[in-house]
Amino acid sequence: MNSTVIIGTQWGDEGKAKVIDYFSREADIIVRCQGGANAGHTVVVNNQKFIFHLIPSGILHKGKKCVIGNGVVLGIKELMEEMDILESEGYNLKENLIISDAAHLILPYHNDIDGAMETIRSDKIGTTKRGIGPCYSDKSLRLGLRVGDIFYKDTLKKKLKNTLDIKNIQLDRLFSMPPYNIKEIMKTLENFRDRVDDMVTNTQYYLHQSLEKGKKIILEGAQGNALDIDHGTYPYVTSSNASIGGVLTGSGLNTSCIKNVIGITKAYITRVGEGPFPTEDKGEDGKRLRERGAEFGATTGRPRRCGWFDVELLKHAKRINGITSIALTKLDVLSGFEKIKIAVGYHINGKRLAFLPSTNLTDVEPIYEELDGWSEDISDCRSIKDLPNNARKYISFIENNLDLKISFISVGADRDQSIII
Ligand code: GDP
Ligand code: IMO
Ligand code: MG
Repeated sequence: MNSTVIIGTQWGDEGKAKVIDYFSREADIIVRCQGGANAGHTVVVNNQKFIFHLIPSGILHKGKKCVIGNGVVLGIKELMEEMDILESEGYNLKENLIISDAAHLILPYHNDIDGAMETIRSDKIGTTKRGIGPCYSDKSLRLGLRVGDIFYKDTLKKKLKNTLDIKNIQLDRLFSMPPYNIKEIMKTLENFRDRVDDMVTNTQYYLHQSLEKGKKIILEGAQGNALDIDHGTYPYVTSSNASIGGVLTGSGLNTSCIKNVIGITKAYITRVGEGPFPTEDKGEDGKRLRERGAEFGATTGRPRRCGWFDVELLKHAKRINGITSIALTKLDVLSGFEKIKIAVGYHINGKRLAFLPSTNLTDVEPIYEELDGWSEDISDCRSIKDLPNNARKYISFIENNLDLKISFISVGADRDQSIII
């Protein structure tokens, strides 16, 4: 029981990386478990900003082991770019980055199909076009290539041929796209093999061995509970389990390894891409949240849709993930709002709902309460006592409605702009 799960409770971009970076100082190993380069995880240290798409957000703490787990879909180009940046800054990845041999590889046709599907479908998802859905689909269809395959040239070639025979027909007939040449992709895979040669292993075994030696592990969620393929707002979700289930299957750890589940929760809500968002504010307040919170996607640069805190969405995340405490982020962004709205439940056709509906979320009407805001800049607060009274009331209101403790408050992007309770 030495592992802490740090997971998003809303539609992603909750500030997971900032919190993971903070807690990484006390950990030995940080593991990404699912998703791929659709994630954009921002860490700011002394005004220097790093955005991670695949490498765990603990990497800036020298000497910590960072694992890309078996549940991740790995974009070769994105990983190499991220490695280049970190190595040019002096980070020793040969020593500290460990990649699962069972993680699936995103190949160029996955990106093509992701883009083409978005163009064709009339009901768009607004994906990141990083090839995530097509790669997870191939995994389920048993057409995927795994990182471990790159070390066995002959079988790799056979597997790739088998896949390309199907993909090239798909590309041509469904999308009128040119075929891929096996030689071209083999070359990419061989270059990748040379780069990651010493880093690839059976990470499930490595993690269990590490726990037996008493090492502390942080399991880093990507996306958020409301983007989970089963528990999120399907079909406007990502293609993996962004909830606790994906953390376990994507790392190979089991329930007995987990000590805490910290739910990362923004003090308001954002969403990128399409899909229902009951507390979205399309007016001046939403615009103000976007501007004050610099709410633009870390992966695609798209403006994030903004709105108010939603208690029902959080209760859903609490149930699904067994959240033991909340880290509340971006509280500083709410400074200057005279009134702060918070949805405490939903109505549908005048009837109060007991839980978040799985299908007709667009039809629900949020029931709002309004709390008094505060005008003070709180970004220099380092203790709960430093916060204005109304900010403390906002925190208590959330705690009472969720019956959960808020154990961490973030009041700025920098590592040190944090309050531990
Ligand atoms: P993640 O995907 O959950 O890791 O979150 P992102 O990195 O996509 O987005 C969070 C954004 O908010 C990043 O730009 C962070 O630097 C920034 N951020 C994180 N915590 C805070 C905070 O408490 N206050 C402010 N103002 N910005 C924050
Ligand atoms: P982090 O880890 C916010 C969204 C996309 C789109 C949907 C499906 O930074 O919180 P995909 O490319 O996964 O097929 O897109 O999911 N999405 C995210 N939104 N944060 C993320 O990750 C996201 N990853 C995917 O915008 O709506
Ligand atoms: Mg993000």
